[in-house]
Amino acid sequence: MESIHSLITARRSCRKFTDQPLSKEQVELLKKAALLAPTSKNNRPWHFIFVTDPDIIDALSTSKPHGASFLKHATMAVVIIADPEKSDVWIEDTSIAATYLQLSAEDIGLGSCWVQIRKRMSDDQTSASEKIKQLLNIPSCFEVASIIAMGIKAKERPAYTDADLMTDRIHDNKFQQ
Ligand SMILES: Cc1cc2nc3c(=O)[nH]c(=O)nc-3n(C[C@H](O)[C@H](O)[C@H](O)COP(=O)(O)O)c2cc1C
Repeated sequence: MESIHSLITARRSCRKFTDQPLSKEQVELLKKAALLAPTSKNNRPWHFIFVTDPDIIDALSTSKPHGASFLKHATMAVVIIADPEKSDVWIEDTSIAATYLQLSAEDIGLGSCWVQIRKRMSDDQTSASEKIKQLLNIPSCFEVASIIAMGIKAKERPAYTDADLMTDRIHDNKFQQ
């Protein structure tokens, strides 16, 4: 197990995966990680759909015109949804769960990448969320927040170094111009 600091330094978005399947243990660990994510008032407004069917993953990869096509080659896609009626901060709750999933994936040596769905259109008329809800039989009360692509990394990307950090974004005590 890695320290959280080495994990956040090493994690990079991975959009290329090998054909190797994930083990049952890896998938179980990721499911638990999602369910361990904290939520406001412990409301837990989210659900997670773990998609491994290649035809469904293929369909998800066309849910929006930009930034989702790489999903086609992912081994697993975790679709994160929530019921906005269950929590006024469902966006925060689903985002934290997405981060838990990505860091847990890194911890067990897997690659991952976030695919934004909320606020994205599928085409001129339909939102990406609506398209995915139809595809996955998701009840109308839910919104789709994001999809996390997962798989065994086909290529390692360099970890971040101190030179990558925007240190001017950190302020001590008061905002410094
Ligand atoms: C809220 C959010 C939405 C993102 N949406 C997409 C997306 O739709 N498609 C994609 O390929 N990457 C997406 N990404 C990945 C970012 O492009 C990536 O995290 C960023 O370029 C920094 O690179 P790194 O993850 O390697 O540190 C998203 C990341 C975040 C946090």
